Amino acid sequence: MHTDFEKIKQEALTKINLALDLGMLDEVRNVYLAKKGLVMSLMGRIKDLSPDEKRVFGQAINELKKVLEEALFARHETLSTIALNEKLENEKLDLSLPGKEPFIAPQHPFHLIKDEISDIFIGMGYQIAEGQEVEEDYFNFTLLNMPENHPARDMQDSLYIDNKRLLRTHTSPVQAREMQKNKNKPLKIISPGKVYRRDDDMTHSHQFGQVEGLVIGEGLSLGNLKATLDLFVKKMFGPKREIRFRSSYFPFTEPSVEVDVSCHECNGKGCSTCKGTGWIEILGAGMVNPNVLTMNGYDPTRFSGFAFGIGIERVAMLRFGIDDIRRFYQNDVRFLDQFPKR
Ligand code: PHE
Repeated sequence: MHTDFEKIKQEALTKINLALDLGMLDEVRNVYLAKKGLVMSLMGRIKDLSPDEKRVFGQAINELKKVLEEALFARHETLSTIALNEKLENEKLDLSLPGKEPFIAPQHPFHLIKDEISDIFIGMGYQIAEGQEVEEDYFNFTLLNMPENHPARDMQDSLYIDNKRLLRTHTSPVQAREMQKNKNKPLKIISPGKVYRRDDDMTHSHQFGQVEGLVIGEGLSLGNLKATLDLFVKKMFGPKREIRFRSSYFPFTEPSVEVDVSCHECNGKGCSTCKGTGWIEILGAGMVNPNVLTMNGYDPTRFSGFAFGIGIERVAMLRFGIDDIRRFYQNDVRFLDQFPKR
């Protein structure tokens, strides 16, 4: 029996070097070195040989096995390096790619102005007070000097939940709540939030935002109110804006005023924005009515105070030249996209 070890070796080495990946190399290894592979089957033949032949044949098999194992090892090293390099190449990050721009929504003009109003008053030392949108009529009206059946309750069309509770028609009930909490202590708060009325047209919505302001201390006068609002208006609309007070009526303030700001379009000369008057109404205000102080735990002989209620959409409409209050709630991206991103 003659076995051409040299031929087997050359064939095996060729196959090893032709293996293009680790999978192919494994197949070659199986053909030669697995339990039922060629080398093992050659081993099986030893038992039929003479002692001299056994030695020579055995040595030849061992030599073949060694050569193949070394070649497989070397090829394995080469192929793993190639595979690793390929993987690294494929996973390389190209930092010069422009990337995907994340979508950032613009700020809603309502919140933009609400935050700006708040920041202006926080800068003047005011603290933010929280109110509640479902309010007792006692706080919405009674404690603000509008007892049951008082005709002034009709000034604001309301939306009742049951006999006692309603969606608040203004942020002024926060005044009563804060006074009750602080009784006879100085107060300086604003309270931004939503209010509700049975209203719906170009300039009125059934839901809108207000910022309530309340300051209580000793010796406060209408002059303090005017200085405060003048500063607010100049910060919000620019240093050239002036304000004027017109006498008005709210049951919870005495005296009461409507506050106008000089028209930014015509500088007070009269144009279509201000309907020819040179002035635009922006808020209601007044000195806290002594009855309200008494009902909510303050001594009116010692304390006085002023309050104001700013319409958030109204300020935003003036700042941005928005013609219809309903645009705030329609979610039209063509409208919303015009406002700055944060
Ligand atoms: N609450 C009043 C309104 O909604 C505004 C206001 C607030 C007036 C505070 C005076 C003082 O019309």
